[in-house]
Amino acid sequence: MIELRHVVKAFGSGETAVRAVNDLSFVCPPGSFWAMMGPSGSGKSTVLHLIAGLTPPTSGSVLVDGADVAKMNSAEAAALRRRRIGYVLQTFNLMPFLTAAENVGMPLVLDGVKQREVDARVKDALAMVNMSHRAAHYPTHLSGGEQQRVAIARALVIRPAIVLADEPTGNLDRAGGRVIMDLIHDINERTGVTVLLVTHDPVFAAYARRVLRLVDGALQQDMPLTEESPDGDIGIAG
Ligand SMILES: Nc1ncnc2c1ncn2[C@@H]1O[C@H](COP(=O)(O)OP(=O)(O)OP(=O)(O)O)[C@@H](O)[C@H]1O
Ligand SMILES: [Mg+2]
Repeated sequence: MIELRHVVKAFGSGETAVRAVNDLSFVCPPGSFWAMMGPSGSGKSTVLHLIAGLTPPTSGSVLVDGADVAKMNSAEAAALRRRRIGYVLQTFNLMPFLTAAENVGMPLVLDGVKQREVDARVKDALAMVNMSHRAAHYPTHLSGGEQQRVAIARALVIRPAIVLADEPTGNLDRAGGRVIMDLIHDINERTGVTVLLVTHDPVFAAYARRVLRLVDGALQQDMPLTEESPDGDIGIAG
């Protein structure tokens, strides 16, 4: 469960202050698949950073499974990211000198998981993204879409509660993007992981069950596509 309560995130101060997020509130129940849209600079990435505890809110609170992210010390916030949150970005950020399998296993290795367990979980994660046959390949030998599938496996290998995907199809063509979106949709249905996806493409946003539209850091529009709102109001004013 992700909950934002009257969250404000301001950068800078005085005349030049920017409110990247401006009094945003919502409750995102476990298993949700939501898309966030909005013009460039509307605060979408900042919302994901706040949820991952990468930056503290200026005011208001961000709760992940009931815990206030801003009140965590740096070790707790790091543990949240290492164990509970899978992050997928537009750039795949795979290590070029590691194989697909080694890239996927990296978060577990860093977390001190035993090699035998790492191997088993990497195998599962690669199977989940239909990349088992490329386990021993290096990223430079993979297409962009394949690299993104490996990056998604790396996000899933920790068995996260939440996947934050910031324009995961941004570097792919429409067809490649569809493969990734089908996969994310499938994984959400099969594993019940919560997915928050940022996208500029309405075709990809339509995969979600709810679309939030941000403008100037505030919720401008909330469109349930197939999902009933859990408690009606998610914080949009007026
Ligand atoms: N670290 C920072 N320091 C100063 N300003 C920032 C910082 N991060 C974001 N901003 C500002 O906050 C606003 C929201 O940025 P954000 O990256 O969240 O937008 P976005 O909706 O993800 O845009 P895009 O679609 O271009 O990725 C922008 O005006 C941006 O310049
Ligand atoms: Mg962004």
